[in-house]
Order: sequence, then structure tokens, then C-alpha cells
Amino acid sequence: MVGLPGAGKSTWVGAQLTGTHTVVSKDHWPRARHREARQRRVVATLLAEGVSVVVDNTSPSAAERAPLVALARAAGVPVRAVFLDVPVEVCRARNDARPGSARVPLVGLYAAAGRLEPPDPAEGFDRVDVLR
Ligand SMILES: Nc1ncnc2c1ncn2[C@@H]1O[C@H](COP(=O)(O)OP(=O)(O)OP(=O)(O)O)[C@@H](O)[C@H]1O
Ligand SMILES: [Mg+2]
Repeated sequence: MVGLPGAGKSTWVGAQLTGTHTVVSKDHWPRARHREARQRRVVATLLAEGVSVVVDNTSPSAAERAPLVALARAAGVPVRAVFLDVPVEVCRARNDARPGSARVPLVGLYAAAGRLEPPDPAEGFDRVDVLR
């Protein structure tokens, strides 16, 4: 998944991939150390077991996606990017409407917007879907 906080990634995953994919997200361990490395280990283990995986993080930049693409390549499985292309102001409005505990700090939203690069097949994706 690729998309700003509040873009609707988790909602889309819940509607589209429940039952076929195991959801991995750094959000599952908000306070753990080395969350990035831990996520990679979990993804690698699941792929080695033959499980289909969806990574539900913002992953706004190609650099942040590259390790995940590499894991899929190493496992010999196809890798797809689903980009929820939602304007930052729409994400901001949705974020503002969230309950306090679920609200992302505005600086996090705008930092992600600043890093955002639409996923491109040249990164190694077999398929790129852009949803508006
Ligand atoms: N297609 C949609 N249209 C309108 N509102 C939506 C849509 N999808 C999700 N929302 C609403 O937007 C808010 C954010 O959705 P969601 O939690 O799925 O975003 P997210 O991309 O997973 O955010 P985060 O990166 O912070 O986890 C929720 O209140 C959700 O109900
Ligand atoms: Mg989410």
C-alpha cells in the first residue's frame, strides 16, 4: 500500500484483501524498537511460508518501498503497489475527524506528503494500481 495518513489504506485493505492476505504494519507495534527491521523479518517469514502479504504503511517514497520490493523478488513472488491518490487536504480533513487516539500529528501528514512519490513499475512492481 502507498498513501498518506488518512488516505484510506486500512479501510481498503479490510474491504479488498481480508481472507486472502495477511496484513503487516508497523502500526501493529507502535512502541517497539527497530520496527522497520522487525517488519522486514515478518514479511520475509510469511513469504517463505507461502503466505500472501499486504504491507499497510504509508510507504510514500521509492526508497521506503525498495526493501519490500526486494523481499518479494527474493521470495520469487509478484509484487503490486496500490496507491491511494488522495489530496493531502482530504487526508487532513479525515484525520481531523478521527478520534484523538487515532489522529496522526499534522507534521507527520505533511512530512509524508513531502516525501510522496507515486509508485512506478520501474521500482520493480509487476503491477501498479492508482485509486483516486
Ligand atoms: N474511500 C473513502 N472515502 C471516504 N472516506 C474514507 C474512505 N476510505 C476511508 N475513509 C475514511 O478515512 C479515514 C481514514 O481511513 P483509514 O484509516 O483507512 O486510512 P489510512 O490510509 O489507513 O490511514 P493511516 O496511514 O493513518 O493508517 C477513516 O475515517 C475512514 O473511514
Ligand atoms: Mg491505516
